[in-house]
Amino acid sequence: MAKTWTIFTGILASIVLLTAAVSFSQSNTDSSGLPSLLRTTSCLPKNCSQECQPAYGEVTLLKQRLAETLGDRDAERRKGEETVAKLQEEIATERRNSTELLDTLKQLIEGLKLELIEGQKNRSEAVATLQAEVEVEKQRSGQLVKDLEEESAADSQNRTAIALIPPIPSAEDVQRDVETVKRLKLLDAVQSGKEWNTRRRGIFPKKSTAQWVEYCETLAHENQASLEAGQIAVPPELLAEAHHNYYGAPWALGRDIFEFLVNKTNLQPSHRVLDVGCGSMRVGIHFIAYLEPGHYACIEADALSLAAGLLYELPVNGLLQKRPQVISSNTFDTSGLTPKSFDLVFASAVLIHVDTREKVWDALGKFERLLVPKTGRLFTSHNMKWCEAPTAESDCPTPEVLEAMAMVAPSLV
Ligand SMILES: C[S@@+](CC[C@H](N)C(=O)[O-])C[C@H]1O[C@@H](n2cnc3c(N)ncnc32)[C@H](O)[C@@H]1O
Repeated sequence: MAKTWTIFTGILASIVLLTAAVSFSQSNTDSSGLPSLLRTTSCLPKNCSQECQPAYGEVTLLKQRLAETLGDRDAERRKGEETVAKLQEEIATERRNSTELLDTLKQLIEGLKLELIEGQKNRSEAVATLQAEVEVEKQRSGQLVKDLEEESAADSQNRTAIALIPPIPSAEDVQRDVETVKRLKLLDAVQSGKEWNTRRRGIFPKKSTAQWVEYCETLAHENQASLEAGQIAVPPELLAEAHHNYYGAPWALGRDIFEFLVNKTNLQPSHRVLDVGCGSMRVGIHFIAYLEPGHYACIEADALSLAAGLLYELPVNGLLQKRPQVISSNTFDTSGLTPKSFDLVFASAVLIHVDTREKVWDALGKFERLLVPKTGRLFTSHNMKWCEAPTAESDCPTPEVLEAMAMVAPSLV
């Protein structure tokens, strides 16, 4: 570097010297056009005569100027060297600093590496702990599932057993039934045993009339009291199932009618059924058991028949919780029922009791309006054989009703 600098300053000095010499020669030309310096060279310095003294003086001056210039260059060189030294020092300082920074960074990285290794170690430990816990949980839940499966197997066995027993009505079901009995004033019909026996046109053959009167009077009173207390006491007449003989003989036919209608209409538990003139629910109990809660409705004119159905048949067959809709009416009042919502409306041995053709048509019109359009079905049945030797006038339809029903039958089924 220093060598390069010396060569550089030498070249520079030569250029300056040459430039000075040229300018000097130009400024000191005589009439011949030659520079006075060249002109006097031959006499310098030993053979110098008086004439060339001035030229010598100029050389001295030139030398001085050159020395000054060189002096300036030296100062600049020194200044440059100082700057270089300063820069070198700064570089060295920076280098030292960066080395320190590097060391610090290295240490930091080492630290992080260690932390990472430690973290990985911790994580591996944590994962191992979790895996162990998961294993324990798996075993525990496996056992739980096994226990539950065993429990559910036992439960389903129980359920199968329970399914054979009629469901026990809840307090709510009983309360609802009590309310229905109160609302329909069904106990008015059994306020006295005498009235009951008069109205029902007969008595259970195995018991004496006097005995029944006594029972019914006592129990009618008890029944009213128990009803007020939110319970239903069953009159002994019903316990003897006398209504099976009178309101629906033979009682077992109810199951046949039910099966016939279900098969004919491909009835599903989700369907809705209206049982017109349901009596004591001889057919109704089978429909109520089959259908979803709230999907069975019945209309009945006779309070004693309804009392037998509500007070005896529903609780005994465990059907209270199926919430059948019971309408007490002798005019086929269907105003409380939703139009076009019934999949099946049937009247089993009912229309023969209606006294005029108009009433039959009027009733059929009401039932038709309740049917689900197109798929809804209406059935009526009549035991005509019974009319061949009627025991009472009211047992058979009048000729005009018979005529109306003969017209209805082919058009309905
Ligand atoms: C022979 S019983 C049949 C009962 C029931 N359908 C069965 O098959 O067991 C006829 C029923 O129709 C009822 N009934 C007659 N006319 C009625 C009317 N206008 N409104 C409602 N029910 C009526 C009677 O009270 C009686 O319970």
